[in-house]
This record gives sequence, structure tokens and C-alpha cells, in this order.
Amino acid sequence: ERTQVVIVGAGPAGMLLSHLLAADGVDSVVVETRSEEYVAARIRAGILEQSSVDLLTEVGLGDRLTRDADKHRGIYLQWPEERHHLDFVDLVGRAVYVYGQTEIQKDLIDARRAAGQVVHYEVTDTALHDIESDRPSVTFTDSEGRARTVVADAIVGCDGSFGPSRAAIPARESWDRTYPYSWFGILADVAPSTDELIYAWHPDGFALHSMRSESVSRFYLQVPNGTDPASWSDDQIWDALAARLGHGQNGWTLQPGQITDRSVLPMRSHVSTPMRHGRLFLAGDAAHIVPPTGAKGLNLAIADVALLAPALTALLKGDPRLADGYSETALRRVWRCTHFSWWMTTMLHTTEDPFDTQLQLSQLRWVTSSQHAAAGLAENYAGLPIGF
Ligand code: DHB
Repeated sequence: ERTQVVIVGAGPAGMLLSHLLAADGVDSVVVETRSEEYVAARIRAGILEQSSVDLLTEVGLGDRLTRDADKHRGIYLQWPEERHHLDFVDLVGRAVYVYGQTEIQKDLIDARRAAGQVVHYEVTDTALHDIESDRPSVTFTDSEGRARTVVADAIVGCDGSFGPSRAAIPARESWDRTYPYSWFGILADVAPSTDELIYAWHPDGFALHSMRSESVSRFYLQVPNGTDPASWSDDQIWDALAARLGHGQNGWTLQPGQITDRSVLPMRSHVSTPMRHGRLFLAGDAAHIVPPTGAKGLNLAIADVALLAPALTALLKGDPRLADGYSETALRRVWRCTHFSWWMTTMLHTTEDPFDTQLQLSQLRWVTSSQHAAAGLAENYAGLPIGF
């Protein structure tokens, strides 16, 4: 089997890349270890930057997005007795949008299916070959147990931090930070108790009130690493959310509801370079992981593939310049988001160290009282333009 680009991973990065390449007349084959149902249903990101929305709309993926995404002007930042709104539109002229990764994934699956895209789901034994040649290939066993080989001009690893692509790059350099806390994520069938997201610093630990739609709320609680999600009762969850989010303060109330999903996610920063070796390119979580605070992960993956699609198209036409610059160009944004998500994370999560507490409260007062500090947060949160 022959194609122009083999894409490893059918998550949002891989499927969007396949869509962007097709628009440029470049054929691709996508391989994915999970099932289509699993990829479409997994609960991940929820916030899109303006530039992500603009890109998706420009490439014909904006129908449901334009109709269903909820535009937010900013966020609330709070700590006990204080809640402050940061208006990103006033501060930097850009907004953010609530639209779940599950919805983007559905839009991508529908668009690729309508275009006749080949996606092999539930493959095993994926291996990359000859990435230093101009005829690299990917071998795998398909869902029917057949051994297959796809030869291409380039391979793109969109297979996350556990996939085989990153490990195929020799002489890597990487940077890591693990955090001494995790997020307990809760999805509930209840209308959000807030119009925009609430990021709450609290002595018991960070809490976040997010949402997915008018009738579905998303919450996160800072918990110790290794916490078993089954070890919390529903009442314990709602009590902790009420306490940390400030139920009863200034007349604000938290409305509890049916919990439909719970999971604990570890928090980690990771950058692996280079993002390209020979004819193998990495995009999204395959190259970098950010902690969730600040909602950068999906937006960064979208920015990677927005850079990569024109670079691959030019490379296949004989012009290697954008492909040669891909890693360096992408990493500028990667490090900006790595810093920002670290900065938001360390501002909001409590530690055992009372010195940290005072710095956190000082930083919170600063970003909610100084226009300049607030604009810095807003510029990063609402997202730097593609190509930054
Ligand atoms: C969500 C996740 C985040 O990390 C964040 O900063 C905001 C929202 C969410 O999943 O809704």
C-alpha cells in the first residue's frame, strides 16, 4: 500500500492533519490503536482559543462549532472571600470558546468519512521504518489480523506520549516536570452554576468549575497523586467543590447533579526535541505534554498541525524549507504554552510550603488588580496567533 503521508494516531491532531493535507491535495492514511468509538467518546479538553476556532472554521469544520460553541469573554479567578473576572476581550481583543474535544472529534470523523479517508482503527504492532530515507513506511496488524505495510513520503506521529513515534527519533533531548498533585475530573448532568469558568485557589486545594454545554458541567479538584476516584463518594465530591468554589459567598450557589464520569489525571510538563527527524514529524502530545491548567494541550496540537500541513505539502512538491524549520518554529509556541501552563498551575495549586502560599496569593492579587499583569494572562490564555 502506498500513500503520501502516514499519520499515526486518529485523535484530533491526526484527523485534523489528514483534513488539512486533503485540502492541499495530499493523500494520507491514518492508523490508530484504539477503536473509533473510544477515540470519539474519551473526555478530554473543553476550551478552544480564538485562533483554533478561526482555523477550524476556515477549513470547513465550523458548522456545528459556530452553532454550538459557547463564547466566553474571560474567566473568574478566586480565592477565599474574593472573586474577580478577567475580561480577555477587553484586555487583548480575543475570546475563548467552550466546545468539547468529543465534539471536535465527531466533526473530524464525519468530515473525513465523507471524504473517503482511510483510517485503520484497532491496529496493533505499529512500527516505523526507514525514517531517514525518502520512502519511510509504517507496518502494523489491522483489526482483522492482517499484516500491512504502508509506504509513504513522510510519517507524522500524532500518537501521544505513549505511542511509538517519539521513541523512533534518535538523539532526543527532553525536559520534564512532574507535579506533586493530580486532578480529579468530574462530569455532571447539571447546568453550570456560572456563566464563565471559575479557577479557585483554596487552602484545601485548587478547584475548577468548567462546563461542556448548557446542561453538562465539568469540575476538577486538586487531589494527591495516586488518588483512587472510587474512594470519593458523590457527597464528598460535591461538598469539596462547594467549599473550594465558595458556595454561599456573596449569594453564589453551586448546583449539584448526577455525576456521569470521574477520573484522576496526573499532571506533567514534558517537551521532547527535535520534533522532526528525517521524514518523521511529531505533532501534539507525541512531542509535548502540558498540565491541564490553562487548557493549552488541544490548542497546541491544533497549532502544530496548522504549521505542519503546509510544510509537508511544500516538502512533497520539492521545497523543504518549511519542513526544515518546523521543529524550531513549533517549539517557540510549545515553550510559551509550557511556561504558561506551569505558571497557571503553580499559581493555583496548594503545596505544603507556606512560602508558596504567600507567593500564590500575591500573584493572584497582582493578576486581578494590574491591567498589565491581567493582559499577560489573557494574551496567553486566549492564545497567541498561529505562527507566533
Ligand atoms: C478545562 C480544562 C482545563 O485545563 C482548563 O484550564 C479549563 C477547562 C475543561 O476540561 O473544561
